[in-house]
Amino acid sequence: MAATSQLSTDHLIGIKQITADDIHLIFETANNFKEVINRPIKKVPSLRDITIANLFFENSTRTRLSFELAEKRLSADTINFSAASSSVKKGETLLDTVNNILSMKVDMIVMRHPAPGAPMFLSKHIDANIINAGDGTHEHPTQALLDAYSMQESVGDLQGKKIVIIGDIVHSRVALSNIFCLQKLGAKVKVCGPPTLIPKHIQELGVEVEFDLKKALEWCDIANILRIQLERQDLRYIPSLREYALYFGVNKPLLDSLDKEIVIMHPGPINRGVEISSDVADSDHSIILQQVENGVAVRMAVLFLLASRR
Ligand code: CP
Repeated sequence: MAATSQLSTDHLIGIKQITADDIHLIFETANNFKEVINRPIKKVPSLRDITIANLFFENSTRTRLSFELAEKRLSADTINFSAASSSVKKGETLLDTVNNILSMKVDMIVMRHPAPGAPMFLSKHIDANIINAGDGTHEHPTQALLDAYSMQESVGDLQGKKIVIIGDIVHSRVALSNIFCLQKLGAKVKVCGPPTLIPKHIQELGVEVEFDLKKALEWCDIANILRIQLERQDLRYIPSLREYALYFGVNKPLLDSLDKEIVIMHPGPINRGVEISSDVADSDHSIILQQVENGVAVRMAVLFLLASRR
């Protein structure tokens, strides 16, 4: 049970900046909202006087739709911005864009941006609550929260549980936020992938590195599988996707060869046949779609708790 009834922060910039008590409070609040979104009438008036701007300077399917739905379920007024069709293309700065939006009396900003640190920068210059929906290769805090919440639903308290994060760790904001979140909840974390996709000094974060996929799977209770982020790779980090799938793809024969059953997760979007085979992604061990469902309740909790501090 959370030892607090308020978050310790006005913004959700990263998991690094929040406490274990904050995470437990978000999960308890999400439990209530999960019950709400499974009712015939899925809407509550909690954010009726709050206006939220969703600023997406980078592509998104799950996160953007999940935030939009969470905001609608809480009865907030929302406006949506996509960089591709905005005046950013005419040379406007991030701060000018956001200040123009704020002058329309916006209370909260959900932002995805390709530059690591962009949400932190904004939080120092503007009055609205900022929620980071992914900043470059840095953090994706609501993804880590919904991942940990889904893990807890599957295996209970994460204290001492063993979680391996597999794949393109070096380019992944999901990996970094997961590491911070899982460690704050007492889990043991390993990362697994080809040496070129593992950051050089990652052990300094308190995680172990395993280059052998089968050994990593034998060790863990849960495998969180990440995609190869080809759009962020200006160098060739792997010889080919075929070779990656051969050595680091999670497939059914590999899982069948283990002495145990493990929970399979993926934040999406999935590259079927590369990091995960279809028969694993669609299997009973996979909680990939539960992650997406939980994302709405967890984001409702984050929005509600941050708005409560206004
Ligand atoms: N998991 C995730 O962030 O997906 P999107 O890029 O589709 O939002």
